[in-house]
Amino acid sequence: MKILIVGGAGYIGSHMSKLLVKSGHEVIVLDNLSTGFRKNVKYGELVVGDLADIGLLENVFSTYQFDAVMHFAANSLVGESIKEPAKYYRNNVANTINLLDVMINHSVKYFIFSSTAATFGNPKYSPIDEHHPQHPINPYGMSKLMVENILKDYASAYDLSSVSLRYFNACGADPEGELGEMHDPETHLIPLVLQVASGRKKEITVFGSDYPTDDGTCIRDYIHVVDLCQAHLLAIEYLIKNKSGAYSFNLGSGHGFSVQEVLDASSLIVKRYNASIFVQYGDKRPGDPDRLVADSILARKILGWKPQYECLETIIEHAWRWELELVKRKKQ
Ligand code: UFG
Repeated sequence: MKILIVGGAGYIGSHMSKLLVKSGHEVIVLDNLSTGFRKNVKYGELVVGDLADIGLLENVFSTYQFDAVMHFAANSLVGESIKEPAKYYRNNVANTINLLDVMINHSVKYFIFSSTAATFGNPKYSPIDEHHPQHPINPYGMSKLMVENILKDYASAYDLSSVSLRYFNACGADPEGELGEMHDPETHLIPLVLQVASGRKKEITVFGSDYPTDDGTCIRDYIHVVDLCQAHLLAIEYLIKNKSGAYSFNLGSGHGFSVQEVLDASSLIVKRYNASIFVQYGDKRPGDPDRLVADSILARKILGWKPQYECLETIIEHAWRWELELVKRKKQ
């Protein structure tokens, strides 16, 4: 298949491109390089461009006859979305509509959409399955939910088949050490903790230690980036083999780990390299639910998804190897 990866210069998109090429598919990456990096595009051709540019989209779709589109390009900082909602609704919603409309013009029928656990808002029960009510508590989550709903209408009106994959906490890095997580600014727990261990950052602040959990810190469901990518590949195969429609699946490991457990596991791993992690305990970050754990039984049952890297230590080891690689590159 020839697949357009929108946002393929970013963290998850770059791992996806590698998996697709290794699985025998052809990849074209479209990325405006606003948060992604040219050097992340190691698999497939890069077209630099923005989804706001409908003329460019028309050209790209005329040049390449795509079989499917995977859409990873979005703004994804919860705090920023509260301060600048217009940016989120314009980029995550309006620009996605541009992409969908050009797909329809060019009769491209299969679409995989990066959605998020943030569409659920504060959980009513745990683990969170696909029947859980979706009441986002920030514009980021709302922008993703709006696209999920648009996709339902587009499936019935235009026969555009889609799968929305709701990621819980994407983390880890390419097990071969070629790709990994790189955000500027970095806000995610695991890369920040490892930046402290490598000396790139002075300390990590735990946001809140009096949550109603066993150790008082928040619980999250950490899912390896390669396992997420495997689910995308299965989702495309599912759409091609099955009927048309708009489907949604939650993607997580089903295991919750507290911030303290992540810190403890990371400390043990980096200790082997004589590194340590300086931890401070600070205030809660506004808008953090105490527990977000996925029920991914549906993805396992319907898509046949079997995550390979569910062990937290393995996830952290892959991320640590990548952090050491980044440190080495900075010294060169
Ligand atoms: N945390 C800290 N200190 C830090 C950074 C994070 O204690 O310096 C804590 C957070 O409070 C949270 C946990 O570590 O409890 C994980 O935080 P991340 O920022 O790594 O991830 P989030 O769970 O906040 O966010 C993820 C995705 C979002 C998505 C959200 C769904 O990155 O895109 O899940 O709720 F919206």
